[in-house]
Amino acid sequence: MGKTRTIYSCQSCGYQCLKWLGKCPECGEWNSLVEEVPARGTNSPGTRRPLLGESFPQPLTEISMDREERLFSGIGEFDRVLGGGIVPGSIVLIGGDPGIGKSTLLLQAFERLTESGRTALYISGEESARQTKMRAERLGISSRNLLVQTETSLETIMASINEVKPCAVAIDSIQTIFSTELESAPGTISQVRESSSKLMCLAKSMGPSVFLIGHVTKEGAIAGPRVLEHMVDTVLYFEGDRGHPYRILRSVKNRFGSTNEIGVFEMKDSGLAEIVSPSELFLAERPLNVPGSVVAACMEGSRPLLVELQVLACHTNFGTPRRTSLGVDYNRVTLLIAVLEKKAGLNFFDQDVFVNVAGGVRVEEPAVDLAVIVAAASSLRNRPVDPGIVAFGEVGLAGEVRAVSQAEMRIKEASKMGFSTCLMPQNNINRISIDCGDMKLVGVNSIEDALEAYEGVD
Ligand code: TYD
Ligand code: MG
Repeated sequence: MGKTRTIYSCQSCGYQCLKWLGKCPECGEWNSLVEEVPARGTNSPGTRRPLLGESFPQPLTEISMDREERLFSGIGEFDRVLGGGIVPGSIVLIGGDPGIGKSTLLLQAFERLTESGRTALYISGEESARQTKMRAERLGISSRNLLVQTETSLETIMASINEVKPCAVAIDSIQTIFSTELESAPGTISQVRESSSKLMCLAKSMGPSVFLIGHVTKEGAIAGPRVLEHMVDTVLYFEGDRGHPYRILRSVKNRFGSTNEIGVFEMKDSGLAEIVSPSELFLAERPLNVPGSVVAACMEGSRPLLVELQVLACHTNFGTPRRTSLGVDYNRVTLLIAVLEKKAGLNFFDQDVFVNVAGGVRVEEPAVDLAVIVAAASSLRNRPVDPGIVAFGEVGLAGEVRAVSQAEMRIKEASKMGFSTCLMPQNNINRISIDCGDMKLVGVNSIEDALEAYEGVD
């Protein structure tokens, strides 16, 4: 009888080798190699069978589209983040910190889905059926078409799906599922990869949409191989601050819609509630007439979002001043401070600078630059900015203020939220074609203009 051959797989990137190593040569992770027994007959689970069934070349024009009818969960924010509803046969990965509300979100979405008489299957590998029921009670869910099963064996789950033929399946979570074909423990890279690829074949051939809940690692990435993110159609992250009740559902990959779309929810006693006007929420506790606070008009996917940007510049006690940034890219902040020093002559060399986006939101687009500049100057000079001002615009290294996309939507949102003035790039103003009503547009070409303008406005 031959000796059982084992391989060592890196739990972080999927690299495989025959000997144990302390450090993965592929991704550089320490102590991430785990001994695994490869599946019988092969040492590479992915190469055993065609992933998407039998295939043949055919003209693009003749491929039928009839399966492209999307399903709507009825939770507007959830549907929008998915790109306008759930695509049948798609596979969606939802990641997020423990306790953020992933199970709650899917349970609520599934209940709405089943209201129209469709069947949905919720597989829980972490909680017993009773625990899921208790949660459902709390959420006021009482749908007869929502089936719950506590199971971790992939083969049993596949059998259930074949029997029930649901329109959507939730796997909570993919790290608890194991296939008996592999001898590795649940949660290891080969198990996660095997379970996901089998579920993917099933989704593509039979048509249920599969939602996989994935745990995240300490570093914030979805645990398991990166291949998991490549394999699925859509990757959503459910994030939020433990101290705040609101949660943001963010799409980072979507084969059926735009990425960077966000959905905003509030966690209440009775579950997650949609927030239709997030700007209102993020500006709710804004202090007025305080130095260092400026409202920025950002875009999150297709939606404008007004956020309050706060900067605190205070005298440093050390030789090297500190720069701290929450919600805005740290490098961007140091760059903007340098531009302010060089181009506007403001001295930050003896100032610690703290930047924060109120409410725990993260903004990633450069359009927030102008607001950072104005807020930093306002804090340094200890002069508040008029609370009726909204700022947006990208700032370059020469101190120039550059045009940004979708200026009109930003202006409309600011006007809807009751602001009176937009401090914005002059180049954007030249191209505006909408009627801005009472909104005063102040165009600026450089940061000097911007600092002068904000002083002039208040
Ligand atoms: P859960 O969906 O179990 O999180 P995850 O699946 O991401 O681990 O959510 C758990 C948290 O949500 C828990 O801390 C309690 C809170 N919660 C509410 O505030 N209201 C509710 O109605 C529910 C069901 C949960
Ligand atoms: Mg859960």
